Amino acid sequence: MTFISDSRFHRQLLLVNGLLPAVFIVFDHWRGELGANPVEFVTRATGVLALIFMVLTLLVTPLRKLFGWNWLLKQRRLIGLYAFFYGVAHLLTYIAGDRDWQLLSVPDDVLKRPFIAVGMISFLLMVPLAATSTNAMIKKMGGKRWNQLHRLTYLIAIGGVVHYYMIVKSDITYPLAFAIAVGLLLAYRLAVQIRKVA
Ligand code: HEM
Repeated sequence: MTFISDSRFHRQLLLVNGLLPAVFIVFDHWRGELGANPVEFVTRATGVLALIFMVLTLLVTPLRKLFGWNWLLKQRRLIGLYAFFYGVAHLLTYIAGDRDWQLLSVPDDVLKRPFIAVGMISFLLMVPLAATSTNAMIKKMGGKRWNQLHRLTYLIAIGGVVHYYMIVKSDITYPLAFAIAVGLLLAYRLAVQIRKVA
């Protein structure tokens, strides 16, 4: 088996590349190179990374079905876990940088700022997916129930895009690009369902 079709090689490639942005952020923080507002930089970077990995998880099924790239399926869990990893980093940066570790001020902020509420809901929806990502949990829940639960991915991606859109003030280019990507990936799934019923 060549390394191109070796799933262990794919996993290692993904492990290293998924971790690289975090390593660069930590390294730049250590060098004091995160710009004038490091908290804002890290919050934004981790937020975008969480959303990118969410979109990548949604990309796996269409790529498998359209191009027969079935090897991607084995990597989907790790891609999803990276979305969760950057989501946790995003939340921690918010709690440390924005809330100054005052955890009791978080519920107040959720009620005051709607974009925080949307982000928080999206993040909380990620928790059951991460918690049920092990083989043992898939076995315990059964494939059908597990797949149903993991459709929450759609809501998380939509929530992430709405959260992003609510933050930007004038230039909506990036949230719009994510909205188009998520829209196309969900439209693909809808089209497959409609074809199945018809
Ligand atoms: C845990 C709950 C969450 C909180 C408290 C939160 C909070 C924040 C805050 C304070 C910002 C920066 C706003 C600014 O700079 O004005 C932000 C930006 C962002 N967040 Fe979240 N967020 C949460 C969850 C999420 C999730 C789950 C995603 C993605 C799936 C996400 C994606 C983003 C994106 C894409 C940005 C904008 C980055 C940019 O401006 O370039 N957030 N979030």
